[in-house]
Amino acid sequence: MTTRKRIAVVPGDGIGKEVIPNALDVLGASGAPVEFTIYDWGADRYLIDGTTIPPDGFEMLARDFDAIFVGALGDPRVPSNLHAKEILLGMRFQMDLYANVRPVRLLDASLCPLKNATCEDVNFTVIRENTESIYAGMGGNFKFGTPDEVATQEDINTRKGVERIIRFAFEYARANGRKQVLMADKSNVMTYAGGLWQRVFKEVAREFPAIATQHMYVDALCLQMLREPRSLDVIVTNNMFGDIITDLAATLQGGLGMAASGNIHPGRTSMFEPAHGSAPPMAGKNLANPLGSILTGAMMLAHLGFNAQAAKIEAAVLDAVRENKTTTDVGGTLATRECAQWGQAGRKRAIGVKFTGLRSATQSGRRQRPQVS
Ligand code: IPM
Ligand code: MN
Repeated sequence: MTTRKRIAVVPGDGIGKEVIPNALDVLGASGAPVEFTIYDWGADRYLIDGTTIPPDGFEMLARDFDAIFVGALGDPRVPSNLHAKEILLGMRFQMDLYANVRPVRLLDASLCPLKNATCEDVNFTVIRENTESIYAGMGGNFKFGTPDEVATQEDINTRKGVERIIRFAFEYARANGRKQVLMADKSNVMTYAGGLWQRVFKEVAREFPAIATQHMYVDALCLQMLREPRSLDVIVTNNMFGDIITDLAATLQGGLGMAASGNIHPGRTSMFEPAHGSAPPMAGKNLANPLGSILTGAMMLAHLGFNAQAAKIEAAVLDAVRENKTTTDVGGTLATRECAQWGQAGRKRAIGVKFTGLRSATQSGRRQRPQVS
């Protein structure tokens, strides 16, 4: 008997609260032996009692769960965005989830804004460093609020951090049958940090003689992504550049609504969240595209070793896209719920599972353990 994997679910804010319950239904329907515990961390909870994440939250997640599934965080009622920062960046930093893996795969040519692009043209993965760079929050103000104000924001690059993300990228390439790792930086200007990345990249590459290497400045990479995406395979870069280029990359596969993402530390409880944000203007209208979170859920299942169930979900998403059973952002006419359910209905016979309890548990808040059977 397979032991069930325990997944902590944080739907979060805005459209996160709509897409995640739908994604949970699809995960349940895939037959993967998983159980979900829903946490209500997000703007609503923060505005009620000031909780962003409980004091022992990160230890609890690491101890009691095999993975974390997050929707989106961000709400105009919390202009400081403090809760989002503490929850999302908190998980990345405190749990040391150092590799942000963002696959970029075009499922249907019609979704790509590039002229004549085919699915074969857009199929690469960005490995973004997830715990350092400008995101470390180091810096400060001098003479704040005066005409002489100085603001600094420091770009942190540790030997250990750079080495482990570059090695992760090569290992990812090897494990996924990829042929090349491209390292992107801005070493023509950021000479100290770029110099470290360059040296470490060359060193680590020697351990992987079967994998080709390339280097590009990040601005040139943006151009390349639009002009010749087919040439890209695995890209490794720092936190800030990775953030920026993955929005651009998402556009190639149909927009942020289609983009999956995993925040990974091999061997530890890792976190999976769709790349999109909480999209406040769209929230509560049953309009949001659930496919990004469904694909993210599939990525999580594959990470937990449930490759067959992940493949079923990906196949269902592919069918939905090919048959235009999608939301309006990617050219369909369906609502969030109908799109997600179509995927299940379309696969139901193949999957042959029933699942119970998810809807009510998802709707009613925290600390329930629905059984997926
Ligand atoms: C992302 C987001 C986050 C980031 C924000 C919400 C802090 O844009 O996951 O890409 O910058 O990492
Ligand atoms: Mn981003």
